[in-house]
Amino acid sequence: MQFCSQGHKQTVLKLLRLILSYPDCRQYYTSIFVGNPPRPYFLDVDTGSDLTWIQCDAPCTNCAQGPHPLYKPAKEKIVPPRDLLCQELQGDQNNCETCKQCDYEIEYADRSSSMGVLAKDDMHLIATNGGREKLDFVFGCAYDQQGQLLSSPAKTDGILGLSSAAISLPSQLASKGIISNIFGHCITRETNGGGYMFLGDDYVPRWGMTWAPIRGGPDNLYHTKAQKVNYGDQELSMHGHAGNSVQVIFDSGSSYTYLPEEMYKNLIDAIKDDSPSFVQDSSDTTLPLCWKADFSVRSFFKPLNLHFGRRWFVVPKTFTIVPDDYLIISEKGNVCLGLLNGTEINHGSTIIVGDVSLRGKLVVYDNERRQIGWANSECTKPQSQKGFPFFL
Ligand SMILES: *[C@@H]1O[C@H](CO)[C@@H](O)[C@H](O)[C@H]1NC(C)=O
Repeated sequence: MQFCSQGHKQTVLKLLRLILSYPDCRQYYTSIFVGNPPRPYFLDVDTGSDLTWIQCDAPCTNCAQGPHPLYKPAKEKIVPPRDLLCQELQGDQNNCETCKQCDYEIEYADRSSSMGVLAKDDMHLIATNGGREKLDFVFGCAYDQQGQLLSSPAKTDGILGLSSAAISLPSQLASKGIISNIFGHCITRETNGGGYMFLGDDYVPRWGMTWAPIRGGPDNLYHTKAQKVNYGDQELSMHGHAGNSVQVIFDSGSSYTYLPEEMYKNLIDAIKDDSPSFVQDSSDTTLPLCWKADFSVRSFFKPLNLHFGRRWFVVPKTFTIVPDDYLIISEKGNVCLGLLNGTEINHGSTIIVGDVSLRGKLVVYDNERRQIGWANSECTKPQSQKGFPFFL
């Protein structure tokens, strides 16, 4: 989730614009406006989680010092357990007869957690045509954070849940007929950031996108399936031999990209074979593997290609992660590998594509047609497909 904080996006209905700041950390956030009068909150944009939550004075037990004052719910804003979204969120545990509130607890991959109650309040959105919309939005009023989520000062006030669950922001907007259940983001490769994000289909390009079907997983995340994965010309094997497909999850809530351990090991071996002269700097704790960048080390690295779709398809479907999209320059000036061992976060058999590898692309999550699309982009300006010549 949150290795450290960076980046900013603004929420606008059908279009969120994203403004990023520091290059040292990789977290992208957006502002939303909640309550009456509307107050701003910065939320970490996370396609890997269901529930949106905001640090909350309910009162708060453990909250980080964030950029804004805690959200303070009026009593009537607390969602009762019989609410459909509460039932969906709690599943089997929705059986408390005497409860007056809907409790939740989420644990993230880095073992940080958030606990709270569901609240329902006005969310204010600005449409691409300048119109304003007010939505009754259900989110977590988060009064007990642990782990990384508690480190102060935090760049964000909470998390924006963008999965395909009914409680996620796009699903809630879609269920009210405000948008179709599609959204996208585009993060620039520029070190000082920039980019945008949108909700709804107004900015989905009609052509030039590569689409891969979303395969239902055990959760509401954006799973796809890659037929093979190559580092340069070399196929990275799974389960001991090449040709085995692998699950891929697109997760903007993850700063880095994770590979199944076997692939990770193959990759490290391939890098070492290619460049026996690399000097590792183990005193650099930025990431597990950092090399001294005393010459153009980066040119030794090759693209990582995730191949989707059947091989006999005429148009190859490839998600290419060029070296710039998996290498990080540390504060010491070393080149560090932003591809990590998935087993470390209990994802031993899944590729998790995180922020570092989502840059330089328009990525669209289409929950209507159940597909994920991408196209290379500078991410400077969203292009409306519906004849609106202007955006905000
Ligand atoms: C990956 O992580 C697991 C769990 O921490 C560890 O046992 C394993 O040795 C690691 N593999 C590599 C290649 O670093």
